[in-house]
Amino acid sequence: MTDMITQVVSFKDKPAIARASAILEAGNLVAAATETVYGLAADATNDIAVKKIYKVKGRPSNNPLICHVCDVSMADSIVHINETAKHLMEKFWPGPLTFVLPKREPTQIAATVSAGLPTIAVRCPKHPAMQNLIQALNRPIAAPSANPSGKLSPTSAQDVVSGLQGKIELVIDGGRTDLGIESTIISIDQYNTIKLLRPGTITADEIAEAAGQEILDNNDHHITAPGQLSSHYAPNAQIRLDATVKQEGEYLIGFGNIMGDRNLSDHANLAEAARNLFQTIRIADREADKIAIAPIPMVGIGIAINDRIKRAAAPRPPETNEGQPA
Ligand code: TXA
Ligand code: MG
Repeated sequence: MTDMITQVVSFKDKPAIARASAILEAGNLVAAATETVYGLAADATNDIAVKKIYKVKGRPSNNPLICHVCDVSMADSIVHINETAKHLMEKFWPGPLTFVLPKREPTQIAATVSAGLPTIAVRCPKHPAMQNLIQALNRPIAAPSANPSGKLSPTSAQDVVSGLQGKIELVIDGGRTDLGIESTIISIDQYNTIKLLRPGTITADEIAEAAGQEILDNNDHHITAPGQLSSHYAPNAQIRLDATVKQEGEYLIGFGNIMGDRNLSDHANLAEAARNLFQTIRIADREADKIAIAPIPMVGIGIAINDRIKRAAAPRPPETNEGQPA
């Protein structure tokens, strides 16, 4: 792929959304803000376009993508939605909750989107950048986080540019993202069992309460969401968790009254800590070779924050699959 110039335009610029939609229509990629992290978008019905996502990210081809829809009815055109799923969609959409559901057959969705699985992950984003883009294209948009595979997810247009400069034509800028970490993912199967595949800012407790049933942990040993593989969201620096005091050469990311060099939330607000998390790790990564992170309580959104920092700290393979064609 020859390198191009990556342009950043505001989501408030109407012609820019039309231009982004035309780029997708032509089978190419754009990045766009959502309320969680920025997404790398392709027309989900175009197999060649979807393959470009895997190539640009260096993403292993067995790791499926989320289909972004503008409403429940667009979701209903690609997956089977039971009563429980419908109820939860009505409660939490548009917003940061992704549903893994049985796909309808035959389907318009490109086979590469779900990497051969009988399910498709669907999410209806709230941020007008991605929401308006789906409406303009009038088709589902496949979009993983807009970062090179295995690296930190982008929470600003600048983060996207620093990872994918020259590889995409356009970034739809929606400012710093509100939530700062990726959506919560659940699966609902034919027995109506709900499993948590990835924690997020909508917590399992909130979902259980809305559904009136328990949410199981995902104990499958085979891949259901490769975001769960040990090393992910990896900065360059080594990371030490549950740090209360800074050691020599470390950059300490604080929380609450453990001040640190920079604090995720000095009044210990977990939503604020999630919003600042990836941005703060990026800054720390530029400042030092070693990062320490203060303990984050395992309650509410703290569960998702701990999930992300554990992955960031996990031992990583010498090389990821970066650069490997899909
Ligand atoms: O907030 C988000 O979810 C962001 C924004 C852009 O919407 N997207 C995002 O996509 O985080 P990505 O590709 O970085 O993470 C999606 C996760 C992956 O771990 C993938 O394995 C899982 O969703 N996934 C996708 N389809 C699946 C399926 N059919 N079954 C199980 N897991 C699936
Ligand atoms: Mg990702």
